Amino acid sequence: DYSYQDVLFTDLEEAASSSLSVSVRDFFNSGATNQVTLHDNYAAYRKYRLLPRVLRDVSRVDTGFSLFDRDITFPLCVSPTGLQAMAHPEGELATSRACAKMGVNMGVSSYANHSVEEITIAGKEVGPIHHVMQLYVMNDKAKQERIIRRAEAAGCKAIFLTADSPVLGVRWNEWRNGFKPPAGLGYPMYERTSAEIQQQSHDDGFSSTNSDSHSWATEIPWLRSITKMEIWIKGVLTPEDVETAIEYGCDGIIISNHGGRQLDETPATIDALPACAKAARGRIKIHIDGGIRSGVDIFKALALGAECCWVGRPALWGLAHDGQQGVELMLKILFDDFKRFPFTRSNRGKREAKYSVHSMESEKGP
Ligand code: FNR
Repeated sequence: DYSYQDVLFTDLEEAASSSLSVSVRDFFNSGATNQVTLHDNYAAYRKYRLLPRVLRDVSRVDTGFSLFDRDITFPLCVSPTGLQAMAHPEGELATSRACAKMGVNMGVSSYANHSVEEITIAGKEVGPIHHVMQLYVMNDKAKQERIIRRAEAAGCKAIFLTADSPVLGVRWNEWRNGFKPPAGLGYPMYERTSAEIQQQSHDDGFSSTNSDSHSWATEIPWLRSITKMEIWIKGVLTPEDVETAIEYGCDGIIISNHGGRQLDETPATIDALPACAKAARGRIKIHIDGGIRSGVDIFKALALGAECCWVGRPALWGLAHDGQQGVELMLKILFDDFKRFPFTRSNRGKREAKYSVHSMESEKGP
């Protein structure tokens, strides 16, 4: 009943969560083990304060950002999250349309309920959009290669290799609720039908499909040999791994702890970011996700060294609330909020921020 200016992110989360079954709501909203990292991802943003510089001309604001050679509306995209049809029957198709409408890019999960071909077409029918394909290291290399080739043929610009998930995180909620995707939903990228999925727990399905024997040396040169798409590593939290990604010639990094769903008690991503950005020294692209819920969060991430932010759960809440329109609403809220932090030019020129960010912990703002 509200115009979108009246809707807070917490309203969206609440409305969406109350519309879902307990099992689906917990699957979407929870983290791993003791929920420490899930909580820290949000809380850590509150430790940083803005240092305004006054009497600067902010009459001409440009929030645009160039990613994969195309301008997007603002430096925010939608992270790959699986099982979006649990939130809304149109699932990833609706997310893709909403991203295209709002002029941002989208990550496609290997656990998508729609195929990468359908998802990319759905978006492109609405407007210009780029997709990236999220990938796990799999036991069946031939199947993994088929996913990569399908993604490339569908026009995806990059592989996001999720590196933080050799095994599935400890998800008490899934065990307690006996979580299973609702019947009727398949994983077309994994070539798995609903009937096959119903025979296993989510945990067993994950470990039988994905490999825990991965390494930089086995994965990155192999990926390079079979695709021209960019190769990004999703799930990096240390400067050492930033350095290794550069050594292996990767194109980008997502500073991510999988939204607190994998290894618990890893640092909040915003806390891990400054050291990673410093190590990168502009040699590799650094993006971030985890706990970003407002324009000021986006601003802080950029000020602390990220080029672009991604959000996971907010798109699921948007979908559960109102399908494509709900995801558009979510993106509108973030965009309007972010516009309050004026930039003169983005990475298409030099990005000149009107504020800097000060860490309350270190007393040394970067
Ligand atoms: C995820 N995420 C995820 N990541 C990935 O690489 N492959 C995947 O299939 C999934 N699936 C998935 C499902 C659900 C329900 C959630 C909530 C998350 C992680 C996702 O890409 C992203 O890293 C986090 O969601 C970012 O944190 P926020 O924005 O949700 O706090």
